[in-house]
Amino acid sequence: MKLIAPSILSADFTRLGEEIKAVETAGADWIHIDVMDGHFVPNITMGPIVVEAARKSTRLPLDVHLMIENPDAYIQDFARAGADWISVQVETCVHLNRTIQLIRETGAKAGVVLNPATPLSAVEWVLADVDYILVMSVNPGFGGQKFIENSLERIRRIRGMIDAAVPETQTRPLIQIDGGVNRATIARIAAAGVDVFVAGSAVFGSPDYKKTIDDFRAKIDA
Ligand code: DX5
Ligand code: ZN
Repeated sequence: MKLIAPSILSADFTRLGEEIKAVETAGADWIHIDVMDGHFVPNITMGPIVVEAARKSTRLPLDVHLMIENPDAYIQDFARAGADWISVQVETCVHLNRTIQLIRETGAKAGVVLNPATPLSAVEWVLADVDYILVMSVNPGFGGQKFIENSLERIRRIRGMIDAAVPETQTRPLIQIDGGVNRATIARIAAAGVDVFVAGSAVFGSPDYKKTIDDFRAKIDA
């Protein structure tokens, strides 16, 4: 299963509902929503009220990426606002199992995110307890940054870790990539073993969303 998740961080916020509908019509699988607090990352973006607005604009799953300190305090709010998938940065979680549990108790799918320089071993013992692992391929905070090449090796290694930790009979977590995904990088990223492709500027910065998403799919399947 290969899924494309446009990040609304690069959408036109004066027309957010239309932008979400436009990528849905263009063939997006999920809507990725970047929540930043100005503490964990050097930028401030959206909160639960934006998720609530997005919920009213689409039937697609909403994937909420929390780049915030103390995520436990906000998980319920985001779930109530309509998040279907919620991911937390491992660097912000002192009690990671508890945080994953909190997400799952809301009924949402749970994910853990690794910054580009965070050792993969930080998630080794939760691989059987999560629905997805997000490997950041830029340092989080802004759209439009350059893809960090060694992310490809990190994807291959996390794939190996998942296969070793989670038996085939169990549903294995999806691997998601976020940052610098575009026409030039997506084929290599797909070949490394990614399931869910987040792309912000490459989708919303393009003149024809459908053409871009179709092109992504052709490159993923190639
Ligand atoms: C980065 C965010 C990303 C961002 C990706 O901090 O987590 O989701 O929107 O943007 P692009 O696709 O432009 O690199
Ligand atoms: Zn993101």
